[in-house]
Amino acid sequence: MEKLVIEGGRPLQGRIRVHGSKNAALPILAASILALGKHVISNVPNLLDIDVMLSILSALGCRTERHNDHVVIDTSHIKTSHIPEELMGQMRSSIFLMGPLLARFGHVTVTQPGGCAIGERKIDLHLRGLEALGANIRIDGGTIHCSAERLRGADIMLDLPSVGATENILMAAVLAEGRTIIRNAAREPEIEDLQNYLNAMGAKVSGAGTSTITIDGVESLRCCQYAVIPDRIVAGTLMVAAAVTRGDVTLTGVCPEHLAAITHVLRQAGVQIDISDDIMRISCPARTRAIDRIVTQPYPAFPTDMQPQLMVLFSLSYGTSIIKETIFEGRFKHVDELNRMGADIRVDMHSAFVRGVPRLYGATVEATDLRAGAALVIAGLAAVGTTNVEQVHHIDRGYDRIEDMFARLGARIERYASAPAERIIG
Ligand code: UD1
Repeated sequence: MEKLVIEGGRPLQGRIRVHGSKNAALPILAASILALGKHVISNVPNLLDIDVMLSILSALGCRTERHNDHVVIDTSHIKTSHIPEELMGQMRSSIFLMGPLLARFGHVTVTQPGGCAIGERKIDLHLRGLEALGANIRIDGGTIHCSAERLRGADIMLDLPSVGATENILMAAVLAEGRTIIRNAAREPEIEDLQNYLNAMGAKVSGAGTSTITIDGVESLRCCQYAVIPDRIVAGTLMVAAAVTRGDVTLTGVCPEHLAAITHVLRQAGVQIDISDDIMRISCPARTRAIDRIVTQPYPAFPTDMQPQLMVLFSLSYGTSIIKETIFEGRFKHVDELNRMGADIRVDMHSAFVRGVPRLYGATVEATDLRAGAALVIAGLAAVGTTNVEQVHHIDRGYDRIEDMFARLGARIERYASAPAERIIG
């Protein structure tokens, strides 16, 4: 068990490049299965979830190598389309492999992805979409068997714009016979990135980024080289950290358009943000102001993956803010931890009422999930005194050594193995 120890109260300052997107890289790595041979994917972040995806690809028979931010995947020797249960249970995103394995091999067996700390995460839309493409699905206890002689294009209306279901159906449809239309598709930038990768392999996909995606099936795809987009949630996390520490941070290699909702909210709160091409400078000389009501919604609205971090900003803002969470019902676990640091937050159903306090104080807190963990780290950077953030493995799923990222900007943050005497990273 590792923990982060943070001495708060130092304004973050400096320049930092944002790493590649986890949520774009995961489906892209899964999609590599669709074409036989060697794929080179760059700007792949060094994260726990990416390691799990590479382990699953290896278990299927792919050869995988990582060289800095490049990953090479050779899909020539895949020997099974059964995803081992122990790997499936480690990461919900392993469900992404269903579409590509079904499209390429005509069958796939997976176990139900487990529950999740942020709430129930169903896969009914994934399964119904694959069924609409002609797959036979049999659920036998916890195992899902999925098979199809040949997938056929279909007109699919999603009940809600699920990111994962859109991606899974899209990956299955590229090798189906005829045209598939996905309506009420999710519009997240990561879906557009997946479209661009598939098209670079020879697929015929258009419309990603809008709510209607059209896929004309092709006979086969070829390998290619592809660079993943920057991680908008890591960028957003850095933006909030710069604001709450009253710092001055320049982010490079970002896509400001993907950050429009976050930028809009932070500017309303009084944060100064200057944008030039792929560079953003965030500074915050004075205390931020509360915002009446923020609602998390699918892209392009404010993302649920930034809700815990925004709550830290509101905890330190002047006035009372309300955040309504509409995507995941269990996504307020960071509230108790922030209150232990002196925040004043009350939850009623799906809304959090955040009364700003002048300062937070260091405490020992626990990361209950990935973004909740990132929020606690940001709170620790702004707090007076020492904060211990436990259960760091959750944070490692989505941030490449978060302590190094913030230390480069002047933070006092170190990783320890259980007790401070066993410091493992400087
Ligand atoms: C993706 C992101 C995650 C982000 C989320 C919402 C990845 C790897 N993860 O997760 O970081 O928080 O989008 O932006 O990209 N739902 C169903 N049935 C389904 C599928 C989803 O009811 O078959 C519901 C979920 O329970 C949830 C909502 O739809 O309430 C949104 O989920 P979805 O968009 O599918 O999120 P993920 O793809 O799991």
